[in-house]
Amino acid sequence: MEHSTLNGISFDAGQWPLKADLPTVIFIHGSGNNRLFWKHQLTALNDCANTVAVDLPGHGDSPGEGMDDVDGYAQTVAALIDAIQAPMPIPCGLSLGGAVAIQMLLNGKGRFHAGILINTGARLKVLPEIFDMIKNDYQAYTESSLKMAVSPHTEANMLKAIVAEAKQCPAEVVYNDFKACDAFDVMKQLGEIVETVLVVSAEDDRLTPPKYAQFLCDSIPQTKAAHIPKAGHLSPIERPNEVNQAIREFLKKLQ
Ligand code: COA
Repeated sequence: MEHSTLNGISFDAGQWPLKADLPTVIFIHGSGNNRLFWKHQLTALNDCANTVAVDLPGHGDSPGEGMDDVDGYAQTVAALIDAIQAPMPIPCGLSLGGAVAIQMLLNGKGRFHAGILINTGARLKVLPEIFDMIKNDYQAYTESSLKMAVSPHTEANMLKAIVAEAKQCPAEVVYNDFKACDAFDVMKQLGEIVETVLVVSAEDDRLTPPKYAQFLCDSIPQTKAAHIPKAGHLSPIERPNEVNQAIREFLKKLQ
């Protein structure tokens, strides 16, 4: 595992230098999270991919105040991919990160090797209660949002680290992340995506329900679908083996 900062973006790589003959999966976290969200994916996929997990601006170790638009984040991550000369880059994001990945695929017009969208949607309207909670009682938000984000089958113990991490992110940054989600709507543009896209959904996801994944599958011309049972919005942490297996199989079929 390697940790670096380039162009003001902090990131971890599962192996470094990146191998020229492997695709590079660029992991993009969701609202208020950071690169450590992908700890179960990063080195576990070393045999079949280069892996890079970024801290979006204002998150984790990346400086800045965050952004309130998906396109700003998309351009920042695309610039990092150029800077590290990632072989066969595959944007892979969850929730807000998934919106960033979709926007990168739209902006890139065929420049990526493929895409991976996990628990996300082409439109991410946010419950007004989420904005109220972040504004009025951020501590309470970090606790209760996690409960809403996981499956009833997931043990609370597994999430301690992510709750601790979430508390590190300033409330304003999280608020702006959700503003970016709330304004995101590319439902009518998905037909322009030319890459093959893996769409991963989770049975108990209440924040981006499987219906959103179905829409992505129906609208993006070339997709593969994977559905993770007994998992919620945070399936890469809740069911890492199943999510990794879905990514592994997708990468195999791309060759
Ligand atoms: N893909 C497919 N369908 C979508 C969609 C997506 N990304 N986003 C919205 N839709 C559908 C809705 O399911 C709804 O369909 P219906 O009329 O058949 O029920 C319709 O489009 C209108 O959606 P929306 O404008 O979101 O509904 P709303 O204004 O009534 O509800 C919320 C707003 C916030 C309550 C609702 O969007 C929601 O529950 N969101 C999930 C919770 C959340 O905050 N997630 C955070 C995402 S980061």
